[in-house]
Amino acid sequence: MDSECYPALIVPAIGTWPRFDSPLRLGVMASGTGTNFEALQSAIACGDLDAQIRVLVVNKAGCGARDRAERLGIQCELRDHRLFASREEMDHDLVRTFQNEGVEAVVMAGWMRIVTPVLIDAFPGRLLNIHPSLLPSFKGMDAIGQCLSSGVTVTGCTVHEVLNDVDAGPIVAQAAVPILSDDTRDRLSRRIQVQEHRLLPWATALAGQRWRTAAATQG
Ligand code: GAR
Repeated sequence: MDSECYPALIVPAIGTWPRFDSPLRLGVMASGTGTNFEALQSAIACGDLDAQIRVLVVNKAGCGARDRAERLGIQCELRDHRLFASREEMDHDLVRTFQNEGVEAVVMAGWMRIVTPVLIDAFPGRLLNIHPSLLPSFKGMDAIGQCLSSGVTVTGCTVHEVLNDVDAGPIVAQAAVPILSDDTRDRLSRRIQVQEHRLLPWATALAGQRWRTAAATQG
């Protein structure tokens, strides 16, 4: 059966997109091709996600995300992790960068580095990550390879809040993707990415509702 015959399952289901008093002020972090970063910006541009990407931070000079930022007219900052003495030192720099841009929450959209409490504690509950599996299954590197060799028939992607333990924070939303008997890593990755591009903007909007409600309650 072709994958398109399976209805996509996203939980919580995509419904009415929330509107905020003012657009969410987002920072985004990316290491790779940047398709999830662009999906966020597309959801903003079409009026679904009520947000603004203030800055994209990349850690690789030649990564696709950087080219996309240039094409989309979004400020992009390069922070080469090899130039910092420690993970903490780099995260202090990231915090400063985001705070200088007035960022209220950060989305790790394909960020392939472990982050430290320096960054996590600067954005408590407001640091999101997207991971290509149905967490808590297949944490860490090569989630898609792990899943293909495990024999499971359903996988997917997860957006979660970032805590100190890798790929372990509270889940915001998930999308399920079937694994087909003749799947290759490339085909499955592509099918997961289609759902990631729907899931990430929606999960950001859902999390944004919580951030803004909490901020209003705290006065
Ligand atoms: C995405 O599939 C994302 O789930 C994964 O990196 C890819 C980035 O793609 N993230 C992780 O594996 C984090 N552990 P993109 O650069 O095209 O958005």
